[in-house]
Amino acid sequence: MNASAIPGDVVALCDYERHARERLTEAAWAYLNGGAANEHTLRANQTAWSTLRLYPRVLRALAGGHTRTELLGRTLAWPVLLAPVAYQKMVHPDGELATAYAAAAQQTGLILSTQASMPLEQIAQAIHDDPDRGPLWLQLYIQHDRGFTLELVRRAEAAGYEALVVTVDAPTSGARDRERRTHFRVPDGIHAVNLAGLQPAPARALQPGGSALFDDVLHDAPTWDDIAWLQAHTRLPVILKGVLHPADARQAQSLQVGALIVSNHGGRTLDTVPATAQVLPRIVDAVGSDLPVLVDGGIRRGTDVLKALALGARAALIGRPYVHALATAGALGVAHAVRLLRDELEIAMALSGCATLADIGPDVLFD
Ligand code: FNR
Ligand code: LAC
Repeated sequence: MNASAIPGDVVALCDYERHARERLTEAAWAYLNGGAANEHTLRANQTAWSTLRLYPRVLRALAGGHTRTELLGRTLAWPVLLAPVAYQKMVHPDGELATAYAAAAQQTGLILSTQASMPLEQIAQAIHDDPDRGPLWLQLYIQHDRGFTLELVRRAEAAGYEALVVTVDAPTSGARDRERRTHFRVPDGIHAVNLAGLQPAPARALQPGGSALFDDVLHDAPTWDDIAWLQAHTRLPVILKGVLHPADARQAQSLQVGALIVSNHGGRTLDTVPATAQVLPRIVDAVGSDLPVLVDGGIRRGTDVLKALALGARAALIGRPYVHALATAGALGVAHAVRLLRDELEIAMALSGCATLADIGPDVLFD
């Protein structure tokens, strides 16, 4: 691990954002912090959490309070996981390994991206036997080559991953204007190493008037049938990430998925979709309390986590903030950022009169 110091002026996640900006190239920054098109959804995610108002109760007994919760048969020390973020070596040479050590040290769940820049086995091996670590899940993009996809699943099972998080909101990239303006490309020497050996899809001859997107790129894009197919081929719970519509949530529930993650990919796919804080209550309402619903997008403060739980989420994910910390100070930075957020959550709970997560309900919000 490359030792780097935590800058003395970092007291909250937003401070890491400033430091990361100074350390990264214009193009890397555009990739990391940018969103789709006009970035309306990117901005809306954060705004939606911050405009919700908390409504605290006073003089409640707080002694013995804690942030523990149960999820998919596991006890989590606290209800936050690190979202899958591709190519982490781009921001720090220690890449996903640093993130994994930090997550484990802070008892925080980790979701490794399909497009990680380090082998999934190396990441699992580094933290798998840590008794205090949080859940370890692999994010899966179902590839055009289903056989290759299954090999990836077998590798995840063998390495000890506990769930497959299938991202369903990005059959193709969004219109990433900010990236394109900087001519972003993944730097030489950084690769989605877990996809090594995947052959490109055979080019399809387009009929006159055919669409390069629909008829070629998306010819083998996954559908609901592929979710059932995947479930039939793995013993791991399958979680869907990127569900926004209640009808999709109910369809996923009928397939007995393990959990849903309400996400708009951090505003990186389809611009002008609603903020996740706005959608979350509809999804929770659609599936009831039997199916765990998680959420990500714009979570930057302990109060945001508290609000997510108040709206019915069982846990929240953070994406960009921990990558800002990784860029700034490697594993130490990520561990510090995660601890800052956890401290903020505990403070927010205490000041709202909630000693445990079970005390957090809709009445914590002022409406
Ligand atoms: C992502 N995200 C993402 N999601 C996914 O399922 N697989 C992936 O490989 C990636 N890669 C990725 C790269 C970068 C640079 C970013 C910023 C995001 C989306 C990510 O998991 C998550 O949904 C959002 O980042 C959450 O929003 P915030 O916390 O970044 O606002
Ligand atoms: C992204 C892809 C990797 O958001 O999911 O960049």
